[in-house]
Amino acid sequence: MLTVSGLTTEFRTRVSGVRAIEDISFEVPQGVAVGLVGETGSGKSVTIRSILGLLPVSGHVVGGRADFDGVDLLRANRKQLRDIRGRRIGFVAQNPFGSLNPILSIEKQFANVIRAHRKASRAEIRALALARLESVQVRGPERVLRGYAHELSGGMAQRVVIALAMLHDPPLVIADEPTTALDVTVQRQILDLIDAQVSEGNRSLLLVTHDLGVVAQYCRRVVVMKSGHVVESGAVADVFTSPEHPYTKQLLAAVPPAPWSSAAKEVTGA
Ligand SMILES: Nc1ncnc2c1ncn2[C@@H]1O[C@H](COP(=O)(O)OP(=O)(O)OP(=O)(O)O)[C@@H](O)[C@H]1O
Ligand SMILES: [Mg+2]
Repeated sequence: MLTVSGLTTEFRTRVSGVRAIEDISFEVPQGVAVGLVGETGSGKSVTIRSILGLLPVSGHVVGGRADFDGVDLLRANRKQLRDIRGRRIGFVAQNPFGSLNPILSIEKQFANVIRAHRKASRAEIRALALARLESVQVRGPERVLRGYAHELSGGMAQRVVIALAMLHDPPLVIADEPTTALDVTVQRQILDLIDAQVSEGNRSLLLVTHDLGVVAQYCRRVVVMKSGHVVESGAVADVFTSPEHPYTKQLLAAVPPAPWSSAAKEVTGA
C-alpha cells in the first residue's frame, strides 16, 4: 500500500544543512495498522510530513521514494499531492485546532473538502456531513455544523477532524500523535474511534505515538525510530517479545507492565 525506501530529509539554513532523518524504510501493507514509535525528536513527524509533502519551507527531501497508488509521493507535483491527500490518504494531526479553520463554520469546512473533489449541492453536503459526524459520535451534529472550531472541546474537535479526514473513504490513514493534545480521559475514545473507522473500511493505518501500550493495543506492525534512523521494525508480536536493538529493549523496559500481564503478576505476587 505505502512503501517508503531510503527517505532522507534535511533542514537548510543559510549556512548549513541538517539531516533530520536518514535512509528511512518501512512498509504499510493493505489493511494493516503500523505504529511508528520513538523518542521526541527522533524524526517521526518529519518522516510523515516528508511523505505527505507537508514539510515547512526549510525542509527538503534529499533522497528516497515513497510509493503509494503507483505514484512516488516524493516526486509528485502539488496538484497530485493535494488530490492524494484529500481522497486517498486521510491525515489526522496532533492538534485538531491546527487542522480546522477558525474563521469558517464546520459546515463550510465539510463543503470545502467535499467540493475539492466533486460537485455537490448544499443539501447533499449537509446530509453527508451529518452522517459522518454521527459516525464519529459527535453529539448535536446540527449545532456543531453551524458552529465554529473554538466552540468545540479538544475531543470533539478531533472527532470533526477525523470525520473530515475520512470523508472520501481514504484507503490509508496517517495519524501523527492524534491524542497527545487531548485529556487522558478522551485519548482512548479517539484511538478507539480511529481504530473502528480503520477496521470497518479495511483501511491501512500509520499511527505515530510515544506510547508502546497504544502500539500493542492498536497495531499489528511497528517501526522504531531513534535519532533520525529506523532501528528496528517488524510484527508487534515479535518486536515486543524479542526486541533485537538495544534501544527497543530500553523503550520496552521503560513501560510499566500491564496489570494483567504475567510480568505484573510476578511483581505483585498475584
Ligand atoms: N522546522 C524545522 N527546522 C529545523 N529542524 C527541524 C524542524 N522540524 C524538525 N526538525 C528537526 O528534525 C528532527 C526530528 O523532528 P521531529 O519533529 O520529526 O521529531 P518527532 O519524532 O516527531 O518528535 P516528537 O515526538 O516530539 O513529535 C529534530 O531533531 C528536529 O530538530
Ligand atoms: Mg512529532
